[in-house]
Amino acid sequence: MRTGLRLLIALFLVLGVVSLWFSYREIRSAKQDLRSELQRRAEAAGETLQLTVEERTAEERTARPELQLAMERMAKREQLAAVVLYDGKGRLFAGALSLKDVLQEKPVQVVEAMAKGAESGAFLQLGGQPVYLYALPLVKNGKTIGGLAVVCDASSVELRKTSILRQAIWRVLAQAFLAAIVIFLFLRWSILAPIARATQWVHGLRTGAVGQHPAPGDMDLLRPLTREMTQMADNLKTARNAAEKEAQLRDAAESEWTAERLAVHMRGRLGESRIFVVSNREPYIHSRQGRNVVATTPASGLVTALEPLLCACDGTWIAHGSGDADKETVDARDSLRVPPQESRYTLRRVWLTREEEEGYYYGFSNEGLWPLCHIAHTRPLFRSSDWESYRAVNEKFAQAVLEEMTDTVAPVVLVQDYQFALLPQLIKKARPDARVAIFWHIPWPNPEAFGICPWQRELLQGLLGADLIGFHVQSHCNNFLETVDRALQARVDRDHFRVKRDDHSTLVRAFPVSVTMPEDAGDAEVRLESEQMAVLRELDVEALYLGVGVDRIDYTKGIPERLLAVERFLEKYPLYQERFTFVQIGSPSRTHIKRYQDLIAEVEAETERINWRFQRGKWKPIVFLKRQHSHAEIERYYRAADVCLVTSLHDGMNLVAKEYVAARQDEGGVLVLSRFAGAANELRDALIVNPYDIDQTAEAIRSAVEMNSEERKARMQRLRKVVRERNAYRWAAELVAELCEVRVEGRGDEIAAKLGDSSA
Ligand code: G6P
Repeated sequence: MRTGLRLLIALFLVLGVVSLWFSYREIRSAKQDLRSELQRRAEAAGETLQLTVEERTAEERTARPELQLAMERMAKREQLAAVVLYDGKGRLFAGALSLKDVLQEKPVQVVEAMAKGAESGAFLQLGGQPVYLYALPLVKNGKTIGGLAVVCDASSVELRKTSILRQAIWRVLAQAFLAAIVIFLFLRWSILAPIARATQWVHGLRTGAVGQHPAPGDMDLLRPLTREMTQMADNLKTARNAAEKEAQLRDAAESEWTAERLAVHMRGRLGESRIFVVSNREPYIHSRQGRNVVATTPASGLVTALEPLLCACDGTWIAHGSGDADKETVDARDSLRVPPQESRYTLRRVWLTREEEEGYYYGFSNEGLWPLCHIAHTRPLFRSSDWESYRAVNEKFAQAVLEEMTDTVAPVVLVQDYQFALLPQLIKKARPDARVAIFWHIPWPNPEAFGICPWQRELLQGLLGADLIGFHVQSHCNNFLETVDRALQARVDRDHFRVKRDDHSTLVRAFPVSVTMPEDAGDAEVRLESEQMAVLRELDVEALYLGVGVDRIDYTKGIPERLLAVERFLEKYPLYQERFTFVQIGSPSRTHIKRYQDLIAEVEAETERINWRFQRGKWKPIVFLKRQHSHAEIERYYRAADVCLVTSLHDGMNLVAKEYVAARQDEGGVLVLSRFAGAANELRDALIVNPYDIDQTAEAIRSAVEMNSEERKARMQRLRKVVRERNAYRWAAELVAELCEVRVEGRGDEIAAKLGDSSA
C-alpha cells in the first residue's frame, strides 16, 4: 500500500501545482478586470462631476448645496465610497463621503492633479480600506479653481482573489479525493487482485497443487511476467513429471529412457567436450506467413531424438538453411539460438545456391543414392555434374563444421544420413581428435545393387572416415560390410563388425531409431470414440471403420499398392462397402523431381478410379489428403483409426509405424506393417505383409477390422512395450555411448595444447 500512498502524494502535488498555477492566472486576470471596471466607473463619475462643478463655482455660495446634492446622487448611483470637492486653497468644499475623516485633508493625488492640471488615479488604503482614488483638477478660464477626488471601494478585488483561491483549494482536494478512489480501485482490481491470484497459483505450484495458468487477459499489465511465469510453470511441471516418472521406474526396476536421463547420461559421457549434429534438414525452418516470420519444425523423428542431446550439452546443429526467412533470423555467424523461446543450443545454417541444391540434393542424393539404396524399382540416375556438386556441398558443410568446433577439444560429431557420405573423412582428416559417427537412416542394399554406383569407392572411403557407422537393422550392417569387402582393400572383421583400413578402424553397428511416447492423457477410450466420429464428420464421410496411412509421398512407401489392397478388400468383402473408409495423409515431397510429380498424379488417379467404382451416398472408400499436416493433426488420425497401413516397398525403419503405436494410449487399433520396413524387426505384433502381395494386404485389412478386442489389446500392449522401452532417447544414448567408447587417434590433450598455442 506504500506504493499507493506514494502515488497519491505525487498526484496530489502535481494536481496542486497545476491548479495553483491556473488559479494564479485567473486571479491576475480577474484583478485586472475588476480594477479596470473601478477605474472606468471612477473616471466616468469624475468627468461628469468635473463639468457640473466647473459650471457652478462662479456663484459659489448658492452652488454648494446643489453640488452637494449632485455628488450624493452620483455617489449613490455609481456606488462610490466617496466624492469630495476641494476649493482652490485645498479645503473641503462639498462631498458625499463615508470616509470623511480621512478625506478632510486633501490627498496627495488631488494636490498633484491640481498642480499638474491633469487627472491621476491610484489604488491605495484609506482608513484601512482598499480603495481606488481618482483625482481631477477643476479649471475655470485657464485657472485651477479646485480639485475633485472620486473614491471607489476596491475591497471586491480582494474578495474575488480570496474566492478564487478557495475554489482552487477545494478543486485540488476534490480531484485528489477522486484520484485516490480511482487509484485505490485500479490497484485493487488490476494489480493487487491479479497478483494475489498469481501468488496463489505460484503457491499451488510450489506445493504441488498445480492449478490453471492465470489467463493472460487477467493480468494485462503483467503480461511479460506472466509469460515467463507460465513457461517456468511448464518447465517445473515437466521436471516434476519426469522426477515422478523416474521414481516410478526405479520402483518398477525398469530402465526406460527419458529426456532427463539422456541429458544426465550425455553430460557424464561428454565431460568438457561438445556435440555437433549435421543434417540436411534443419530442426527449425523460418518462413514468411503474410507479414510474420514463423518457425516450424519439419515432421521428422530426427528432431525428437536429437534435440534432447543438444539441449543437454548446449551443442550445435549444422544444417541447410532452406526457409525463405532463414537469412533474416541468423546473426553474423549464420547462427541462432533454438528452440525459439528457450535458447538451449545453436543452429548454424549453411546456405546453398540453387545449382548446389539441384546437383547435391535433388540430383545425387535423391535421384542417385535414394533409389540406389531403396529396392523400389526406380532406376537411379548418376550424373557426373551431380556428383561434383555433392562433393562440393559435402566440403562446404565440412568447412562449416570445422569452423564451429575450432575451440572444442575432442568434439563429438553425429552426421546424419546419405546426403553426407563424404563428411566423416573430411572432418576426421582435419580434426583427428574428433569422434565422428554417421547414421545412415535408409537401407544399405546388397553389394551387387550398390556396386552400380560409379562412385561407390569414394562414398565408402568417405564413410569409413567415421569412427562409427550406424544403421537401423543388422542386415543393413551386413550388406555394408559385404560391400566394403568387395569394393575396397580393407580388413573386414565380421566377428566384431569392424573395418580396418589405413590404420583407422570403423565400427559398424545397428541402432534402431524410434519415437517418444506422448504423456498419458487418461480417459483414452472415451476420446477414441468421439475422435473417430469427429474426424469422419470433418471429412464429411459416413463410415463405421477407419483406416489410415501417413507418408511423405514417395515411391518407396508403397502408396499405390496400398490403394489396390483397399480396393481388393472391398471387392472381396462387399460387406465393408459403405462401412470402411481409408484416409491417406500424404505430404508432397521433393516435387521438383519428375518421378515424384508422376507419383502424386498416380495416387490421385487411383483414388479417383477406386472412389468412382465404389462410392455411394455419403460414403467413399478413399480420402486422399495431400498437404503437410502438423504432428497434432496426424495424432488425431492415429487415435481415430481402427487400422494403420504401413506398406513401404523398402524402408530403413519407418517411424509412422512406431508413432501409431505410441499414439494408441487406449491400447486399441491394429498395425499392418510391411516386412520390408526396418520396423518389422521389432514390431512383431503387427500384421506383417508383403506389400507387393495385394491379396495378402487385403486379408490383413480384414483381419484387422475383425480382430477380437482381446487379441487387439494384447498385441497393442506388446507393441507399446517395445516402443516404450526402445524409444528415441535410448537410440541417441546408445549411439553416443558407443561413439564415446572409441579411442581417437589424435590425443585430446595434444590438441588442447595446440588450441591453447593458437589462441595465445
Ligand atoms: C528420409 C531421409 C531423411 C530426410 C527425410 C525427408 O527420412 O532419411 O534424411 O530428411 O526422408 O526428406 P527430405 O528430402 O524432405 O529432407
